[in-house]
Amino acid sequence: MSELDRINELIHQAAEKARMETSDEPEPQYVGELTWPVKVEIGQGLEGAIAGSTKVGYVNGAKGWLIYRGFNIFDLAEKSNYEETAYLLLFGRLPKEAELHDFKRRVGEYRVVPADVIRILQTLPTARAHPMTALQTATAALGALDPTTDAADIATKREHSIKLIAQLGTLIGAIAAIRQGRAPLDPDPSLSHAADILRMMTGKAPSPMDERIMDIGLILHADHGCNASTFTCMVVNSSLSDMYSTVAAGIASLKGPLHGGANEHVLYMLDEIGSPDNVKDWYQKAAAQKRKVMGFGHRVYRAYDPRARILGPLSHLIAEAHPEIRPMWETAATLEQVVIEHLGKEKKIFPNVDYWSGIVYKALGIETKMFTPIFAASRVAGWTARVLEYLENNRIFRPRVTYTGPIKLDYVPLSER
Ligand code: SDX
Repeated sequence: MSELDRINELIHQAAEKARMETSDEPEPQYVGELTWPVKVEIGQGLEGAIAGSTKVGYVNGAKGWLIYRGFNIFDLAEKSNYEETAYLLLFGRLPKEAELHDFKRRVGEYRVVPADVIRILQTLPTARAHPMTALQTATAALGALDPTTDAADIATKREHSIKLIAQLGTLIGAIAAIRQGRAPLDPDPSLSHAADILRMMTGKAPSPMDERIMDIGLILHADHGCNASTFTCMVVNSSLSDMYSTVAAGIASLKGPLHGGANEHVLYMLDEIGSPDNVKDWYQKAAAQKRKVMGFGHRVYRAYDPRARILGPLSHLIAEAHPEIRPMWETAATLEQVVIEHLGKEKKIFPNVDYWSGIVYKALGIETKMFTPIFAASRVAGWTARVLEYLENNRIFRPRVTYTGPIKLDYVPLSER
């Protein structure tokens, strides 16, 4: 069996396991169209609040389902590619052959970014600053350089989305190169998005296996309900701000270790643990200190994250081919068992997408600090698809907070304080 067939078999097996393990969970309640106002119970962090309705994607926490525009993530990971998935998210249906060909051509051509943006990255302390900060700056700069940034019509905003999907790939390629002390490579429009990103990030043409793994990573991260960064994008765009500012804000939100930044922090945690033998002691101490285990837990999933179901076996496959990754993979696998033993049954806490992705990217030759930028370069499809959808019936977001401070203080002049 070829390596590529083996990957598809792993995805098949993961889908089958997911179906079996959640067959007892009740069928999800499909809420359908909303009639405002709605009455819901809201917890801290807007848990349970409904920000709108969407046809872009669906996360079912009990079953561990992830669906983009009606298609199951296991099917997409096995059969689709990132460009097709991005088209699906943006346009609401799978493209026909000529449409996909045209979309790939446009993404390829749009990957060329203005030289000024690369210069900005070279001027920043890109080797020292967090790459997500550099990515946010460069994304805002793309907006400053595009003469159509403030156009209000949906067609132009959709074009900005496609440009951003393409150009974030080049930006992370350039940031990775600068951090390695290399000159950024020009994009190659003839390559797939996954292959070109990997080539620009590592400086080497990827093998078909590495290209496929990167493509799967991009497909799996492309959309995920009303997560913090997606909601950030929706909030920013609801003021009718532009798409570049919107995506720059999404990048800022994704950076945090409770969200997309967790993939980077998983690797620091595994480094800290050091070896499988240390896992039990480490976990006991972490639990006593009420430390969160990075890459575990989720606001929505009460079952194993389907993306982690794919990335887990994939990371194992890769670890077998990369002896230098194997000790870290073994530490991760041991920690996974220990945490599930303690928190799985009791609190329904399982690995999320960020638990295994880092090991996969590390094996592809990517530096730890570049993991979250890859997440951003994929998620830009979901961010912009949802923003475009919300714009069709836009209303500015404006929740309340309750005021708990004093209300009748007497103003004291400066000299008397
Ligand atoms: C992503 O929302 C999305 O869809 C996000 C995402 C996407 O694709 O966009 O899926 C990507 O952000 C994945 C999550 C990455 N973050 C981490 O891996 C960081 C570690 N995990 C967490 O801190 C936490 O689980 C969150 C942030 C993911 C979810 O936070 P919640 O919903 O606010 O949960 P919580 O912090 O209120 O925890 C609820 C309970 C607590 O126990 P009790 O106080 O009720 O006894 O679960 C425990 C928590 O202590 N808990 C954990 C834990 N996560 C939750 N305990 C140990 N380790 C953890 N990781």
